[in-house]
This record gives sequence, structure tokens and C-alpha cells, in this order.
Amino acid sequence: MADPSDNDSRPRLSVITPTFNESENIGPLIESVKAALGSSSYEIIVVDDDSPDLTWRRAEELAEHDSTIRVLRRFSDPGLSPSVIAGMSIARGSVLAVIDADLQHDPSVLPVMVERIVSGTDDVVVGTRAAEGGSYGEWSAGRRLVSWVATLIARLFLRVPVSDPMSGFFAVSRETFEKMVPVINPQGFKILLEFVGRRIEGLRVSEVGYTFRNRLHGETKMSPSVIRSYLLAVFELRLGRQIKGQFILYALVGASGALVNFGVFGACEALHIGDVDLGFARAVRWSLLIGIAASIIWNFLLNNYFTFWERRFHRRQIFVGFAIFSLVSLFGVIIHVSVFQFLHANKWGEDTLGHKAAELTQNAIGFLAALVGNYFLNVNYTWRRRAAG
Ligand code: GDD
Ligand code: MN
Repeated sequence: MADPSDNDSRPRLSVITPTFNESENIGPLIESVKAALGSSSYEIIVVDDDSPDLTWRRAEELAEHDSTIRVLRRFSDPGLSPSVIAGMSIARGSVLAVIDADLQHDPSVLPVMVERIVSGTDDVVVGTRAAEGGSYGEWSAGRRLVSWVATLIARLFLRVPVSDPMSGFFAVSRETFEKMVPVINPQGFKILLEFVGRRIEGLRVSEVGYTFRNRLHGETKMSPSVIRSYLLAVFELRLGRQIKGQFILYALVGASGALVNFGVFGACEALHIGDVDLGFARAVRWSLLIGIAASIIWNFLLNNYFTFWERRFHRRQIFVGFAIFSLVSLFGVIIHVSVFQFLHANKWGEDTLGHKAAELTQNAIGFLAALVGNYFLNVNYTWRRRAAG
């Protein structure tokens, strides 16, 4: 092969494969990509985050005997999306494709993707498990559910034109990449959203189905924190900087807590637990207190392991966190009640809304005030960035 600096030798296609601990997979992956691409013009770029299992070394060994293989070993800013962007940045092809290294994506659809971009029909082609010709293969029910919910959220919030917006298997034209790269914010797994989630005028996107295969070796790096950063990304792409994605997660947790509260209250009532005599305070029903306690515990756990994952409490610290969170929640109740009482005493909204609707609105405003107030207290006190550990 000619000197890489020679423009005329630019390959038509750059296949970028991000890797982390894929030493057993990278050889077979490269082989199957090469088999799919035949004698066409391409390069394969392995982007490895300095894997402890020495994936980068395995790839370098292969590259020694094969000039179509390039290896980028990274030492900082680890992650799937930043690796893909790094690979695209050094790629020389006029089409840039991304494929997982674990053989879960099917390289035999690569030529179709390339053809659509080279012929000028499309700017982005997405390998999809969800459309005609595609399938999730032998995925577990749990994995399917996560993917389904994430897809639904992306479609609702971003109205993305693809059926599988979480796909890590896609191709873009060099022009599209160069146009988008200044605004791309590579984090987590949602790299495709960066291309199709911004609703760029005139961006032509199409899909090609394939069957998702099971991993042969190694394990997935998917985790709750990956899902969380995906959701944050969706909200931030949609709402920009006006509302923090973290607040939306917090509010969603709060909403789920309200459901828990209603559910537990209802269940206690049905079991007649509410009727048990409290003795000291006949006015308060057990079922109400149990419902409130259940929702506080629920909210705390979800916020700890989801909303504020990076700053979560560990082990015995959890009890400290829970105590602070309970105090903040109590404070929230005070805000809620005060705001409601204040509006109520001033007959806020009664002229325009009528008595009943005004009451409901006053209650809703109290709830919102408590939500926002609690959010700031929890950010600044409960899950504040604690120095060391
Ligand atoms: N360089 C680098 N750095 N590569 C990574 C990293 C990282 O931090 N984390 C994962 N990878 C590589 C893996 O080695 C693999 O080649 C590819 O990225 C996908 O990672 P998996 O851990 O196998 O992801 P998955 O199979 O659970 O998720 C797949 O489905 C998701 C949607 O449900 C992928 O296709 C995702 O891209 C996709 O979002
Ligand atoms: Mn995988």
C-alpha cells in the first residue's frame, strides 16, 4: 500500500472499532470485516483505551503484517464515544463506519452502508436491530426492556428518525462528520444521537437491518451509569443548557416516588393497616406514614444509585446520606405546606379558576416549589461533592 500521506491513496472507507478488553475478539472481528469488504478500498482503525488485557498489543501485532490496520492506543478521557470521535479524527476514508469489536454487529451489511453514502443517497446509515431485516437475536428480556425504554425516550424527546437510536453500528459521510464535530459532546454510549439527535436541516438518514449476535468472549460494559448518562444526554440535547438534565432525572425519580406513595398507601388501606389505633395521634393514619416512609426510601435509593451516581454514598455512609435526605424531605414538606397555605389564604387564582381548580393548582405550585427547593438542598448538601471518599 502507498504512503499514507499521499492523498490519492485515501481509502474509500474507514472502519472504526472501539475496544476495551476485547483481546480475544479483535482478531476474529478484523477477519470478518475484511471478508465482508473483499477487495474494496478501506482501512480498519482499532481505538483502544489502553486495555488491561492488552487488546492494543494484539491489534498492533496484526497491524504489523497488514497495512490496512491502524491502532490508536489512548491514555486519557476513556469511553466509547470519545474513542469513536478520536478514531474518526484520524480516519482518512470518505465514509466513516463504526462497529463494535465483540462480533455482535454483522459486518456483512457494511457494503450496503458504504454504497448508500458514496452514491450520495444518504449522510448517515444506521445498522438497526429494530427494523425490517433486523433482530435483537437472543437478547435477555431485561436488556430488551432497557433498550426499548431508551429508544422510546429518544424518539419522544428528540423525535429521531431512526428505530434504533442506541445503535453503536453506523456509517457517516466525511462531510457530515466534519460539519458536526465542533458541536459533538462525546460522552457515554450515545454517540449516534450526537449525529441524528440534533435535527440538522436536510440530514439524510436511513437504516439497514441486521441481527444482533451474542458476545463470544469478554463482557459488556453496559451499566446503570451508562444508561444514566444516556438519559442525561437525551435531555441535554433536547433542553440545551436551560434546564439541567440532572434535574429532569431528579424530577422523574420524584414522580416515581409519588406512585410508590399512592401504591403503598392504597395497599395499607386495603389491608386495613390504616385503621390500627396509633394512640398518640389519632388524626394520623398508619397507612399515610408508611406510604410517606416508603416513598422517601425509594427516592433516596434511586437518587443515590441513579440521579447522583457519581457522588453516591457507599456502604455505611448510606445511612448518613439517608438521614440528611430525610431531613431535606421534611423541609420539602414544610415548603409545600407553607406555599399552599400562603396561596390558599390569599385565595390565589380563585377568581379565574374557581375554588376547586384553584385549590388543585395551589397544591401543584406547593409541590413544584418543594421539588425545586429539595433539589437544590440535595445537590448542595446531601450529595455535595465530598472531599476524598
Ligand atoms: N475504547 C473504548 N473505551 N471502547 C469501549 C469502551 C471504552 O470505554 N467501552 C466499551 N467499548 C467498546 C467495547 O469493547 C465494544 O467493542 C463496544 O465498545 C461496545 O461495548 P459493549 O460493552 O459490548 O456494549 P454493549 O454490547 O453492551 O452495547 C451495545 O448496544 C448498545 C445499545 O443497546 C453497543 O452496540 C452500544 O454501542 C449500544 O449503545
Ligand atoms: Mn457488545
